[in-house]
Amino acid sequence: MSDAIARAEAILRNRCGERVRTSFSLAPLTTFRIGGPAALFVAPDGKQDLLAASEAIRETDVPFLVLGKGSNVLVDDAGFSGLVLRLGRGYRWSARDGERLMAGGAMPLPALAGVALNEALSGLEFGIAIPGSVGGAIRMNAGAHGSDIAAVVEAVSVFDLSAGTERTIPVVEAGFRYRNTDLPADSVVVAATVRLRPDAVSEIRARMDEIREWRRRTQPVAEANCGSVFKNPPNDSAGRLIDAAGLKGFAVGGASVSRKHANFVIAGPGATAADVRSLIRHVRETVAARTGIRLEPEVYLVGDLDPASR
Ligand code: EPU
Repeated sequence: MSDAIARAEAILRNRCGERVRTSFSLAPLTTFRIGGPAALFVAPDGKQDLLAASEAIRETDVPFLVLGKGSNVLVDDAGFSGLVLRLGRGYRWSARDGERLMAGGAMPLPALAGVALNEALSGLEFGIAIPGSVGGAIRMNAGAHGSDIAAVVEAVSVFDLSAGTERTIPVVEAGFRYRNTDLPADSVVVAATVRLRPDAVSEIRARMDEIREWRRRTQPVAEANCGSVFKNPPNDSAGRLIDAAGLKGFAVGGASVSRKHANFVIAGPGATAADVRSLIRHVRETVAARTGIRLEPEVYLVGDLDPASR
């Protein structure tokens, strides 16, 4: 264990006690269900925990990573030799204020969509089947079915790990765009406010049912995957391009291109992160050779990877 990790552990233990974990398996925290451990792990449940993490990071320069619900990440087989933070139950909350819903960063997006349904508020239907947290959805601007979180978000609160302070970032400064934002990498999205509009519960429910049904029909929801592997290139679709290249079912080790939707990679029994990475590389190279289009991964690679293999 590196010196920085040992010192970061000592700082965190002092404040968070037994809740600090070492060699903590990350695979169960991802929808791919593969990958190695985090050298250090803690699930912050409030500002004191984030302050402790901030101090550990500032004092030791330990590499760190903020994980949401792990639905858009591939963790390297060797794991991550730093500190992983994943907001805990203290950040799983929501509250209504008129036509607004406020939610903590750990609130699952489908759960918040369910709250909106119960409150007869429309605008979050798209999120009913997105297996991410509010924090992750904000950071990546998660979207589906012609909408995204940017369409409804009004305010984002972040905890700045470098400064040890919390602040609200105006939406215009957050730089929301297709599957990305300008939110600083050293910040944790601790809360967000979305502005919705009143509608009949029956109408909202019908739209959510339709979305769930569409996803079950078109996406491999029952198998371990990370959602769309690549972003859609301008005016085209990664799934269509991969399908047209004849890659459906193509496998490397335990990883294969879904036969149901070509922009999904399935981690089958025995799959390793290396299998998934090789498969992604093969898909990219094949599509590039065929069409000249270089697909950009949407999945976030976690670990001490050789940049050349990314
Ligand atoms: N297509 C094929 N073959 C395939 C898959 C798709 O030809 O194997 C074609 C479809 O027929 C369609 C086009 O490609 O004409 C687009 O496919 P689809 O409607 O499934 O949408 P997508 O662009 O692949 C996007 C998001 C999904 C989101 C759906 C629904 C991206 C990269 N993906 O998929 O988001 O669920 O729209 O709105 O933007 C995610 O980001 O993780 C994700 C799942």
